[in-house]
Amino acid sequence: MTVPTSLAFSMESGAIPALGFGTSPMTGGLSADTVVAALKAGYRHIDTGRKYGTEPAVGEAMRASGVPREDIFLTTKVSHENLHAGDFAKSVDDSLAALKVDYVDLLLVHWPNPEIALSETMPALAKAKMQGLARHIGVANFNIALLDQAIDLCPEPLVALQAEYHPYLDQAKLLAAARQRKLVFIAYCPLGRGRLFDDPVLADIAKTHGRSVAQVALRWLMQQNVAAIPFSSKPERIADNFNVFDLTLSDDEMKRIAALKRPDGRVANPKGRVSGGWD
Ligand SMILES: NC(=O)c1ccc[n+]([C@@H]2O[C@H](COP(=O)([O-])OP(=O)(O)OC[C@H]3O[C@@H](n4cnc5c(N)ncnc54)[C@H](OP(=O)(O)O)[C@@H]3O)[C@@H](O)[C@H]2O)c1
Repeated sequence: MTVPTSLAFSMESGAIPALGFGTSPMTGGLSADTVVAALKAGYRHIDTGRKYGTEPAVGEAMRASGVPREDIFLTTKVSHENLHAGDFAKSVDDSLAALKVDYVDLLLVHWPNPEIALSETMPALAKAKMQGLARHIGVANFNIALLDQAIDLCPEPLVALQAEYHPYLDQAKLLAAARQRKLVFIAYCPLGRGRLFDDPVLADIAKTHGRSVAQVALRWLMQQNVAAIPFSSKPERIADNFNVFDLTLSDDEMKRIAALKRPDGRVANPKGRVSGGWD
């Protein structure tokens, strides 16, 4: 079974590479060499955010790698405390300056903020696109109700929803909502921040195919036409995680992995930022 190497936007022309590289290490900083390793391994979708503090390293790596700017799909995000219009515009300017690029390919609202009206934030997001600072726009960590408000209030189409998704977290409702609204679903923490690696079902399926648990988890997302943005600090794992295009999981294996969902499966869970539930 082949899976698309990039997922087309339905709302506009364009597509997002299905496998990207995350750049938010849980501990320590991010070295530009790590991102260069990802670009050399074949990743052409790099995910950063103003909040991560990794934009300078990402920009340095893009320049050092020799990969042309236009071949890289670069995402950054505006964090929840900067969602008033003036703060939003400054955050975008700061991101572009830190990355040393003229535009990003995808600009996301990083988290909703119940204290700041989406009627102010969404026009600010659209303005960044209209000014040519972002080619495409979207949101992260929005539940379905907030997503609908965001779409209604945004003068430009949204193309993507980024949210946590991996075998331990059931995202069926949010994924269906994203599909209905023609948004590409981008899975963050696709390896459950490392929690999947001792799972016996994943280990068994990985053994059957002679592959790694990480490859099985990433392929499970990709066979659902979900994009994934795994992080690793280790060049051999960075390359291993990208090597999933020639693996096929059977329908039975897809179901066995889906059955691993747990009520406590969420690993990124800042309190109070999503009002009204997660989906
Ligand atoms: N929008 C949002 O709110 C949001 C929130 C969280 C994350 N994100 C994005 O999503 C990206 C990915 O999420 P994440 O970094 O939190 O978690 P993740 O990608 O699910 O897991 C990363 C962890 O898995 C380990 N790992 C990676 N590949 C491995 C392999 N092949 N074998 C064994 N261990 C492996 C890494 O350790 P080593 O470094 O030791 O390999 C690291 O500890 C972030 O970097 C960020 O860009 C977005």
